Parts: sequence; structure tokens; C-alpha cells
Amino acid sequence: MSDSPISHHPGGEAPAPSDAEPSQEQRAQMEQAYQQMQRKMRITQMDEQIKHKVMVLSGKGGVGKSTVATGLALSLARQGQKVGLMDIDITGPNVPKMLGLESADLNVEEGQIHPAVGPHGLKVISMAFLLEDPDKPVIWRGPIKLGAIQQFIGDVAWGDLDALVIDFPPGTSDEPLTVSQNLPGIDGVVIVTTPQEVALLDSRKSINFAKTISVPVLGVVENMSGYTVRGKSEPNSPVSVMGPSGTHIEAESDGEGNWSVTLDVFKSGGGREAAEELGVPFLGALPFDPGIVRGGDDGVHRIVAEPEGETARAFDSVVQRITEELERDSGRSLRIV
Ligand SMILES: Nc1ncnc2c1ncn2[C@@H]1O[C@H](COP(=O)(O)OP(=O)(O)OP(=O)(O)O)[C@@H](O)[C@H]1O
Ligand SMILES: [Mg+2]
Repeated sequence: MSDSPISHHPGGEAPAPSDAEPSQEQRAQMEQAYQQMQRKMRITQMDEQIKHKVMVLSGKGGVGKSTVATGLALSLARQGQKVGLMDIDITGPNVPKMLGLESADLNVEEGQIHPAVGPHGLKVISMAFLLEDPDKPVIWRGPIKLGAIQQFIGDVAWGDLDALVIDFPPGTSDEPLTVSQNLPGIDGVVIVTTPQEVALLDSRKSINFAKTISVPVLGVVENMSGYTVRGKSEPNSPVSVMGPSGTHIEAESDGEGNWSVTLDVFKSGGGREAAEELGVPFLGALPFDPGIVRGGDDGVHRIVAEPEGETARAFDSVVQRITEELERDSGRSLRIV
């Protein structure tokens, strides 16, 4: 490395023992220490360059954390904000697939990785970009995994950002702990849940986990909240729809014959209840939308495919609530100690 402070002894007379040419092992150690120092400096710089850092967590897997993290980032980005999305899931990094960035080439300059750029200028970095074969399972034991995350945090050239959204694997595992210990100035945690009791129970764990790592809880988002069926019939006429449990749900069409019925696929309202019970803000509900599944598979997020649709608007309103929380408590003063 040309800018490394490690240089050879100028040569000439035989060096005194204390001045002796470092061994190969010592040189490697010095190089490592130098790189770590550089990384620390970059992380300090990152704290100044990135206005808000938000972690997205859930206690339970498969509740839509990656979909929500990606949606929140896209919603902010389409409002003209400079946004980054960091996918810390080492074993199942699927954010690039959701954004159609699977084959993105990353630029590495002066030891820093430049993120891929997705829709609305969203900057994205994912472990998936760094794995040789994303289909091969990654089995990294504790310390190696944590080392990789530390490098991952310190080696990305984000530039100036209004917000950085961080997606994690499910549960209260090592990853969020490592990030909270290595990335200064995290504003808070957004907890994603679905309305079933088991998911809610796990959200409680996530809230307690956030408290133990001294990161504030910005609030709870209820995902897959309800599925809205729409139709057309005679104006102002009764409509009956058979719900998931076999019961009939009655509705009435409007003056133009339009009707809609929202089916609670996994019950609903549990996210709000859990938030109230645990004394944290409820950030809103996102509908169950089969278009999200299709979008995830096709690499076009629902917000990009249908920017004025119900799902995109629901994301905008959750972002609005998060922004209010961030502004109200403005970062560190909110820190729970
Ligand atoms: N609101 C929604 N409506 C319909 N399907 C959804 C919704 N949110 C997420 N999904 C689907 O649920 C599945 C799981 O979503 P996702 O991968 O975002 O969950 P996750 O919590 O990140 O999972 P993991 O715990 O494995 O990281 C995906 O197929 C996704 O398309
Ligand atoms: Mg995920």
C-alpha cells in the first residue's frame, strides 16, 4: 500500500537491535493495525456524513423485514432524500434481488467499496455482492462473522446521506449487537411484526433487546396487516364476501358501484396493541399485498412498480411517522440508558 506508514529500514549500517527490520509477522500486524485505524477514522467520518441511521429488526423470521427496510428506503429516496440501504443478513441476503441489483458490479477504490445504485438513486450494499456464490450457504462462525460486519461498516463509501436504513437477519442475534457497538449515532430501531400472537410475542423480545443495546425504539410497524378485495356491483347494493375463516363479511357498494372489503389474513390490530402495551409508538400498518411477493421475485419493488398504489402510500405514511419520531427526539437525546 503506497500510503502505508510502514517503510523499510533505510539500510546502510547494521541496525541496532531495537531498530531491527520488522519480521514478516510484525509487518502484517502493523498493516492490520493501520487498516483498523483507517477504518475507525472512516466510521467517525460516517457519523458526520450520515444524518440518520435506522435499524430494522424483527423477533421472528419472514415477517417482511427486508421488504419493509427496502420499502422505507425507497419511499424516502423517492421524496428526494439521499438514502443508503445496508443489508447485514449474511446467511440470506435478499435485498439486491428485491431491487433487481443481483448482478450489480461494485467499484472498489482506495480500499473502499462503492455501493450499487438502485431506483431513485438508492445506494445499496449487501453481503450478497461480496459472496462468490450467493446460492451457497455461508457458515461463518461468530468471530469471523463479526469481523466481516466490522469491515462491512467501515469500508463502504456512502458519501453524504440523509438516512441509512439497515436490514438484519431475524432475531436478537450478534449482528445488531455488533452494528450498534461499531456504528456510532444510531437513531433507533424500527420493529416489524405481523399481527399473529407469536410474532407479537417476539416483538416484545426485540423491544427489550433494543433497550439492552441502548438504542431507542422508534416504533412498531405491522406488516401483512389486511388484504383488501375490491369489486364492482350495482350502485348502493349489499355485497357479501366469504372471509378466510368461512364467515361472510358484508359490505355495501357506493354510488358508483365500487366496493371494498378488507380481510384480516393474520388478524389485525395486534401491532398497535403491542406498541401501546409496551409504551412505544405505533408507526402504521402495511397491507398484505400479493404484488409485494411478485415484486420481490421480479426485482421490482411494489413502490417502484406502482408508486401511487395503496402499498406505496402506506409506506409513505410509515415514513412520515418515523420522520416525526426522528425529528421529535432528534437522535441522541432519545437514547435509553
Ligand atoms: N405486505 C406484504 N404482503 C405480501 N407479502 C409480503 C409482504 N411483506 C413481505 N411479503 C413477502 O413475505 C416473504 C418474506 O418477506 P421478507 O423476505 O421481506 O421477510 P424477512 O422478515 O426479511 O425474512 P427473513 O427473516 O428471512 O430475513 C417474501 O416472499 C415477501 O415478498
Ligand atoms: Mg430478510
